Amino acid sequence: MKRIMFTGGSGKAGKHVVQYLVDHGCQVLNIDRTPLDNPAVRTLITDITDSGQVFNALSSYMGLREFDPSLRPVRADAVVHFAAIPRIMITPDNEVFRVNTMGTYNVIEAAVALGIRKVIIASSETTYGLVFSHEPRDPAYLPLDEEYPVDPPDSYALSKICNEATARAFATRSGADIYAIRIGNVIEPHEYARFPDFFANPEGRRRILWSYIDARDLGQLVLRAVETDGLGFQVFNAAQDDCSSNLPTAELLRRFYPNVRLTRPLGEHETLLANAKARTMLGFRPAHSWRTEPTARR
Ligand SMILES: NC(=O)c1ccc[n+]([C@@H]2O[C@H](COP(=O)([O-])OP(=O)(O)OC[C@H]3O[C@@H](n4cnc5c(N)ncnc54)[C@H](O)[C@@H]3O)[C@@H](O)[C@H]2O)c1
Repeated sequence: MKRIMFTGGSGKAGKHVVQYLVDHGCQVLNIDRTPLDNPAVRTLITDITDSGQVFNALSSYMGLREFDPSLRPVRADAVVHFAAIPRIMITPDNEVFRVNTMGTYNVIEAAVALGIRKVIIASSETTYGLVFSHEPRDPAYLPLDEEYPVDPPDSYALSKICNEATARAFATRSGADIYAIRIGNVIEPHEYARFPDFFANPEGRRRILWSYIDARDLGQLVLRAVETDGLGFQVFNAAQDDCSSNLPTAELLRRFYPNVRLTRPLGEHETLLANAKARTMLGFRPAHSWRTEPTARR
């Protein structure tokens, strides 16, 4: 049984990833400032911007069972760090930057200092610089892969770039495996009912390149990352195999990105947020698509 410390498990994405990990035999402690309504998982109310709280939380008991005299807190196998302010326009920009960068520094620093050898952090597709730019931008090339020269113009995506640099620094110094997941637009199961509206307005998802990641498949990717050792610092995109549009990918490109260079031929409905690296290095195999979800095709 993997013992996983999970920050941000009460949030939109985290609650599904936590459930997936529990369903696959992991013991999870949720570290969040708000409780998670899940009887299988305890929440330790923690502010990740407070380094002392984070050190304490990551070295704590995972549940009351461990108050048994024969049991003591045992070092976790992995930390999965999702807690964040998840976009601009929730708090002022400098607060997004402060919470996300200092929170991530605190979590990685504490994990490494406590001897935890695997840390997975939530990064974002916004790092590619298209989502929160003032004017629509063309990317340098498509599909977007993890080698892309990222240059985001907003505080949220900048915080995620800083977090990737923090992760690289700690991985270099400690030899721990630290993987950053550039998550596409997270779709919960009930949100497939929104897809007919997405199809009616393809322009609306232009900036995210029609990418999406099913919340359950994000759970699979995180578990594969927890179970795959020895990769050092890595960045992985998290996306389904297809686009969240009923138009062929070539048609989306012709309408919305006619001047962007393609680095390779694409499949008929292939995602523009490339997931080949996660497929190859982690064995990620997305199990869901809007094509198999009845509410997406009403
Ligand atoms: N939802 C998406 O489409 C998406 C896309 C790309 C990346 N991400 C990233 O994935 C992660 C999860 O996103 P989400 O959509 O579930 O966001 P969310 O806002 O629903 O959840 C974030 C969680 O973090 C917690 N949190 C925030 N600040 C905290 C603090 N100071 N201390 C402790 N806990 C704190 C919140 O209470 C919340 O439960 C984030 O890192 C986000 O940036 C999300």
